[in-house]
Amino acid sequence: MAVVVRDLPEGKLDDHPCFSRFEVTERTVSITKRWLRSVYSKFGPCVKVAYIDGKSVGMVQYAPMDIFPHVKRHDAHRTILIHCIYVSEEYRGRGIGRKLMEALINDLSKPHPYLNGGVFQGIEALAGRSRPGPAGPLEFFTKMGFQVIKQLSSSDFLVRLNLPVSNL
Ligand SMILES: CC(C)(COP(=O)(O)OP(=O)(O)OC[C@H]1O[C@@H](n2cnc3c(N)ncnc32)[C@H](O)[C@@H]1OP(=O)(O)O)[C@@H](O)C(=O)NCCC(=O)NCCS
Repeated sequence: MAVVVRDLPEGKLDDHPCFSRFEVTERTVSITKRWLRSVYSKFGPCVKVAYIDGKSVGMVQYAPMDIFPHVKRHDAHRTILIHCIYVSEEYRGRGIGRKLMEALINDLSKPHPYLNGGVFQGIEALAGRSRPGPAGPLEFFTKMGFQVIKQLSSSDFLVRLNLPVSNL
């Protein structure tokens, strides 16, 4: 089973796996596309898709924290927030989520044009214990090396993975 992970091109937003898998309204698709276009224009590609034999089977969507106007953190510019990681049910448990995360970490460990050649410091996500949302299950993120940095409710946690410090 060869899994290929690629950035979703801005010209192919209709291929976003969540538009065909979930029961989303046209209005939601249109609002999401507008949001994605705005992130692409400021940051660049922000969705990675996993394909098996050309079929999309999963994705991870993310953006720098300072793109969200309500986030007031001194390190928001250098921190990536994962909105959602998702693998189609029938393909789970085969390492695809891990491949998506590895591709993301690999990309973000390199100098990025958004930071004028600087490197992101960390990746964060809102994870749910014993449930999939908001961005994905806590148990998956901790397996990927993330650590809980804040408990937000009995089942919601902010998790973080520090990226390697660049020697460039
Ligand atoms: C979380 C998710 C992306 C994981 O994808 P996956 O392809 O099944 O994950 P992998 O097979 O790469 O698993 C990697 C590791 O995480 C563990 N893991 C994955 N999901 C887990 C879960 N729900 N609970 C506990 N461990 C989990 C695996 O056991 C594996 O551990 P191992 O390497 O020690 O064997 C997938 O289960 C999913 O899409 N869940 C629903 C998430 C969702 O609804 N997202 C929408 C919110 S926006």
